[in-house]
Amino acid sequence: MSFTRRQVLAGLAGLGVAGFGAGGVRYWLGRPENVASHDYELIAAPLDLELVPGHVTPAWAYGGQAPGFELRCRQGERLRVRFINKLEQQSTIHWHGIRLPLEMDGVPYVSQAPVLPGEYFDYDFICHDAGSFWYHPHTTSAEQLGRGLVGPLIVEEREPTGFRHERTLSLKTWHIDEQGAFTEFLVPRQAAREGTRGRLATINGESNPTLELPEGQVVRLRLINVDSTITYRLNLPGGEARIYALDGNPVQPRPLGKEYWLGPGMRIDLALKVPAAGEELSLRNGPLRLATLKGIASSEAAGDWPPALPANPIAEPDLSRAETLRFNFEWAAALASPADEAAGRYKYWQINGQAWDINDKTCADRPIATLKKDGHYIFVLRNMAQYQHPIHLHGMTFKVLGSDRRKIVPYFTDTYLLGKNETARIAFVADNPGVWMFHCHVIDHMETGLMAAIEVV
Ligand code: C2O
Ligand code: CU
Ligand code: CU
Repeated sequence: MSFTRRQVLAGLAGLGVAGFGAGGVRYWLGRPENVASHDYELIAAPLDLELVPGHVTPAWAYGGQAPGFELRCRQGERLRVRFINKLEQQSTIHWHGIRLPLEMDGVPYVSQAPVLPGEYFDYDFICHDAGSFWYHPHTTSAEQLGRGLVGPLIVEEREPTGFRHERTLSLKTWHIDEQGAFTEFLVPRQAAREGTRGRLATINGESNPTLELPEGQVVRLRLINVDSTITYRLNLPGGEARIYALDGNPVQPRPLGKEYWLGPGMRIDLALKVPAAGEELSLRNGPLRLATLKGIASSEAAGDWPPALPANPIAEPDLSRAETLRFNFEWAAALASPADEAAGRYKYWQINGQAWDINDKTCADRPIATLKKDGHYIFVLRNMAQYQHPIHLHGMTFKVLGSDRRKIVPYFTDTYLLGKNETARIAFVADNPGVWMFHCHVIDHMETGLMAAIEVV
């Protein structure tokens, strides 16, 4: 299934998630008045959602939806998005998992100036890799992501993949109370622990939706964890599902197994053999149901498992000549000073003894490591604490080599879920010059110290 951009703008892409729009659309994804300069006009603006029946949640949306409008592009092609800020605060867009030039990376004061209310910024880059990606701001992240500024970015393979059907499932657990009002996005006590969890689990903005899927078909489910805190322990009891890609990068297809832990920022592409019409499966987070997957009658001939997806063009690190660098992820809340906290500066986490100060615009001037362009590197990631961290690197895709806690089949990713007290090894070729954020994707860990800059020159 694939669409041209013009069709996307006309709204046909919504077919993939038909029935899952949340709330009334007050702002929309505009048709660009100048098709020569951009493919999408993406407006960030307030949007009232009805997440709790009968109650209003004052969300912030991209393209009239929260989670945001699904952007699509074809591998190898340019994607040009005019981001228009109709919020009352500054913002940016970061393209999570996309290997792009620094000027397009969306990190304020590092890649660009923040986009002020009423202003716009043109993002323009080539999508080298096919897969399931996403986008979000990199400014006041706890609030902006918390209020709904998160959206899928799907890069379609150059050639048809053998999947005739697909759905995108954006997983988010909202920080709202029973009346739909927002609760604190970052509670300091929680930021110093596992992070501040929301209360209402949703998929594409709906709590416990039923997804109707054509019986007997093999459907590609793109699950994207756009949540700020929660690691979903995905399982699908009784379902026949295989993993085709992790975090946008193809893997040798294998059964989903008992449970897959999808940390904040991470994605998993599953192939699901849809059960007979009327039969239901339950997609769960541990014991909790997230969605019902229901087979519906279809006249199409039964589908078969497609072959593995084609690999993305990522440079293979040469371990024999790689330089090894070590990064310790440390819990530092015991050192937090009351004066800092009173001033709203929370330093609960550090990397190699350094806590990132989210309010200090000059932190990126002091990179934690400087890599040589085209050098080969092994990073040893060591979690010194009892809380897990989805560790994410901008600008480059890395290969996970191994862990002292679990068996790893090496694979490429942009985010690795580093478990409690785990040590893992990753490797990559530093082929993208720039200053790249390296951080935990639990947003309140990132905003209370767990971020650093890696420079490639
Ligand atoms: Cu989705 Cu800096 O990350
Ligand atoms: Cu990123
Ligand atoms: Cu963390």
